[in-house]
Amino acid sequence: MKKIIKYILIILIIALVVMQFIRPDKNEGGYESLAAFKTETNVPEEVFEILKTNCFDCHSNQTVYPWYAEISPLSYWFKDHIDEGKDELNFSEWKSYSVKKKDHKLEELVEEVEEGEMPLDSYTWIHAKLSKKDRKTLIVWANLARLPYQLELEKLRK
Ligand code: HEC
Repeated sequence: MKKIIKYILIILIIALVVMQFIRPDKNEGGYESLAAFKTETNVPEEVFEILKTNCFDCHSNQTVYPWYAEISPLSYWFKDHIDEGKDELNFSEWKSYSVKKKDHKLEELVEEVEEGEMPLDSYTWIHAKLSKKDRKTLIVWANLARLPYQLELEKLRK
């Protein structure tokens, strides 16, 4: 019996070591990918910094990884979150969104931030939570950024 446990442990350790050589692709497209979003929504530097610190890791093509994200299977867990976050909202692809989608995503942003749903809990275990002040700043900005899109939608309706 003891021998079996020993074998299982050895196999597990070998599997873990082998896994370290198989890495998922990293999300490191650079912050330049956010230039279009930045110009179009006129995002002030202060707001950009809040987004950079709290949101872009999962909602843009640029993630700042902690060292342990290098370790498999953690690296896969990171990739999953990032892929899922980007699927929902990717600021690096802002230009490709329709006016309606842009307006809707900003509306969702206000909701998620108001309800304290974003950033994800698993993220705030490690990073600081959004401060009350930053939350307010994000909400005020997002509501303002929605206005031009809403006007455009209104025009389209006529
Ligand atoms: C650790 C990764 C992570 C971080 C950091 C993060 N998000 Fe998310 N976000 C997700 C995932 C995953 C989803 C999709 C699943 C869900 O809604 O829970 C999501 C969904 C959203 C949605 C919903 C989009 C929709 O149309 O329903 C919005 C809006 C959003 N996030 C905004 C933010 C904002 C703003 C921040 C920063 C304050 C942020 N997120 C930080 C991972 C993240």
